Amino acid sequence: MADEKGFTLWFTGLSGAGKTTISHLVETALRERGSRVEVLDGDVVRENLSKGLGFSKEDRDTNIRRIAFVANLLSRNGVPVITAAISPYREIRDEARQMMNGRFIEIYVKASVEACEERDVKGLYAKARAGEIKEFTGVSDPYEEPVNPEITVETEEQSPEESAHQIITYLEDNGWLSKN
Ligand SMILES: Nc1ncnc2c1ncn2[C@@H]1O[C@H](COP(=O)(O)OP(=O)(O)O)[C@@H](O)[C@H]1O
Ligand SMILES: [Mg+2]
Repeated sequence: MADEKGFTLWFTGLSGAGKTTISHLVETALRERGSRVEVLDGDVVRENLSKGLGFSKEDRDTNIRRIAFVANLLSRNGVPVITAAISPYREIRDEARQMMNGRFIEIYVKASVEACEERDVKGLYAKARAGEIKEFTGVSDPYEEPVNPEITVETEEQSPEESAHQIITYLEDNGWLSKN
């Protein structure tokens, strides 16, 4: 796919909403079509590019700005990017959108706090409720929902596979990806 179009699929949503799960499915689907897609997952980025940053508003913003910076470098050179970080603040997401000049596709991975808490895959909500984790998004730290995302995936109503399919269909319908 030499003439691949670069774009950024910017996943946002609570911890446990399904960002990592769905991003992997989308990554696989894109790779099967020969894409050179790269994934910037919040948890992975915090282990390297943003190692040492915490969860204050300032550190969260720095983390997201770094992700946006790299996503912009790649996507403007024809490499599709998937970012999968909570990215709780609307203003910083919008900053990323402005930077990326029409190549920014915001995906709201939607799940209520209650649903995420029930899933609690990593046991983080229990710890947050017990006060063992401070500044936990959705419990003791804000999450600002997207106002007008390009895509919303309703994870309480559809499977991860259905959400991935919805995203691929969007890319096809909007000229980012040729139809299979
Ligand atoms: N419809 C769904 N869509 C996405 N994930 C789901 C769904 N239903 C249950 N899950 C589960 O919820 C968890 C989401 O975790 P993860 O993808 O790590 O979330 P995040 O990266 O947003 O923190 C996974 O264990 C996944 O299997
Ligand atoms: Mg994740």
